[in-house]
Amino acid sequence: MAEKKSLEGKVALITGASSGIGKAVSKRLAGEGAKVCLAARRKEKLEDLAEKLSIEDSVETLVLPTDITEEKEVKQMVSKAVDKFNKLDMVVNNAGVIRYGDIEDLSTESYKLMMETNCDGMFYSTREALPHLRKSEGNLVYIGSFDAGHPRSFNPIYAASKWWTKGFAHSIESIVGEDGVAVTLINPSEVRTSIEGEEGESYREKFDEGEAIEPEEVAEAVFFAVDREKQTTASEINLFRRDKLSDFF
Ligand SMILES: NC(=O)c1ccc[n+]([C@@H]2O[C@H](COP(=O)([O-])OP(=O)(O)OC[C@H]3O[C@@H](n4cnc5c(N)ncnc54)[C@H](OP(=O)(O)O)[C@@H]3O)[C@@H](O)[C@H]2O)c1
Repeated sequence: MAEKKSLEGKVALITGASSGIGKAVSKRLAGEGAKVCLAARRKEKLEDLAEKLSIEDSVETLVLPTDITEEKEVKQMVSKAVDKFNKLDMVVNNAGVIRYGDIEDLSTESYKLMMETNCDGMFYSTREALPHLRKSEGNLVYIGSFDAGHPRSFNPIYAASKWWTKGFAHSIESIVGEDGVAVTLINPSEVRTSIEGEEGESYREKFDEGEAIEPEEVAEAVFFAVDREKQTTASEINLFRRDKLSDFF
């Protein structure tokens, strides 16, 4: 008889599942037997991933086309997941964007995009998911950043949005910990994904293999967080490039 996988019977919802870290997390959790609800705006990418996971890992999947900045869509995202699987065991708040520009020249549009995606989106999904996670005594995971915790002269708004995530995640932990919900903040430095670098190139293009973190390593940290014993929370995980504090940039 096949060995039971660690997340068999669990239901996971991952935002930003169409690419990079969210895609790797979805694969990792499905690989451990979790049913995965995949949310992002690009439906086709989610459908491709869902098909792959249902074939390769034999798990049930649900595609949830969602703009995380739209309150109503986020409400639907959570209710559709719960309607299909009758519960929610873990939510990975990962969807996020970055924009660049000197602070005096940064457009209001770029400012709003970062704040609405990185902060408002995480608030909406947390608010909708919490009643279900309280029932399941589940896990809430936030993808923060190295940029939370340090002054970032080249990108103060993105950094501030991640300081917000850090403050929000730990405050939520202080509210729901006693109800049995584990809250984890994961702070990666550079990860080789399609996220945009300062020169317009993606981080996957900017860094060769071995020069920065792979999305699968962040996915491993997420799995560590959701695989703890019931009484334990992995409160914050820093995942830095090994030389990150050497050149400190
Ligand atoms: N890569 C890094 O170096 C790094 C380091 C630290 C933290 N992070 C954080 O990690 C998270 C994931 O980034 P990534 O590196 O994996 O970048 P990515 O490959 O560009 O993925 C970003 C994901 O967010 C989704 N997304 C963006 N806006 C959205 C919206 N309005 N509604 C729903 N989904 C939205 C995208 O999906 P759609 O476009 O299909 O909607 C995509 O799936 C972000 O929060 C980022 O800030 C990244």
